[in-house]
Amino acid sequence: MTAPHFLLDTDLTASQQAAVLDTADQLKARRAADRAGGGRPLEGRSVALVFEKPSTRTRMSFEVGVVELGGHPVVLDARATHLDRGETLEDTARVMSRYVDAIVMRTFAQERLEQLAGASSVPVVNALSDLAHPCQALADLQTIREHRGTLAGQTLAYFGDGNNVAHSLLLAGALAGLQVQVASPPGYEPLERVVRQAIDIGADTGSRILVTNDVREAAAGADVVYTDVWASMGQEGETSSRALVFQPYQLDEKVLAAARGDAIVMHCLPAHRDSEISAAVFDGPRSVVFDQAENRLHAQKALLTFLLDGPAEPAAAGPGPDRANP
Ligand code: CP
Ligand code: NVA
Repeated sequence: MTAPHFLLDTDLTASQQAAVLDTADQLKARRAADRAGGGRPLEGRSVALVFEKPSTRTRMSFEVGVVELGGHPVVLDARATHLDRGETLEDTARVMSRYVDAIVMRTFAQERLEQLAGASSVPVVNALSDLAHPCQALADLQTIREHRGTLAGQTLAYFGDGNNVAHSLLLAGALAGLQVQVASPPGYEPLERVVRQAIDIGADTGSRILVTNDVREAAAGADVVYTDVWASMGQEGETSSRALVFQPYQLDEKVLAAARGDAIVMHCLPAHRDSEISAAVFDGPRSVVFDQAENRLHAQKALLTFLLDGPAEPAAAGPGPDRANP
């Protein structure tokens, strides 16, 4: 059997995504009881966590999550492995597959994850690439549903760089039936092929997608306003040139006022106050950014149990890992 992977948001179907989110809610609700004993579906199993870029949340939430599921996390800085000395991704995947039950990797090009997954006999999870951040989007959907009560029909407005986080919000949001409205400066829009993929998914789920250069157009009717850093990891040399281009896209009080009166404020973190988001909005009463950060833990625990064992609760005709890559 080919192992199910999670390299891109669309590696889950809409119903599989919903099942993972339901499991995440259950895991969150019973976390205290699970920590007191029981709830150890990864007992005796190990998960490699490989990082080619820095991380605070992803590293901690996966490491703690694997331990809470009863498993053993093996955290690796890629620079301290033979990957940094020319051992191929394929050989690395073959070796790791002999030791661990899943590989979680943060890297640069999406192709690196595809190479790793192509030679791995265990599930591979994208812990952020230049293209996408699908684990973040799962936690974001869990957070939106917690605060808004539902996903389908909610309007999420994203302001800023058409980057990995924007791509995953488009794809995962389309799967969940959200209306996703992205405002980016000219030249920094999300990739055309990702936008087209989101629009195609939306034809089935009822999601609608808007990509614009106009902040007010994106903000109109938004239940959720969202932003991310202007210079992502690997783009540090562009920080000052990007700051000029992106300034009009700052998520500030004016943008928030153009959204719905009860809109929630989201940011995947790390945040730069008074850069991509004003300090008043980031620290204000509508901000749910730390709930988002917490939900990384629950959503990723749900994802790992799904990829390794199928749905946590037995379901008569529910999704299973065999069908994670149709
Ligand atoms: N949001 C997120 O992925 O944070 P880290 O880079 O700290 O993992
Ligand atoms: N777009 C950001 C997300 C960080 C979690 C980056 O790639 O650096």
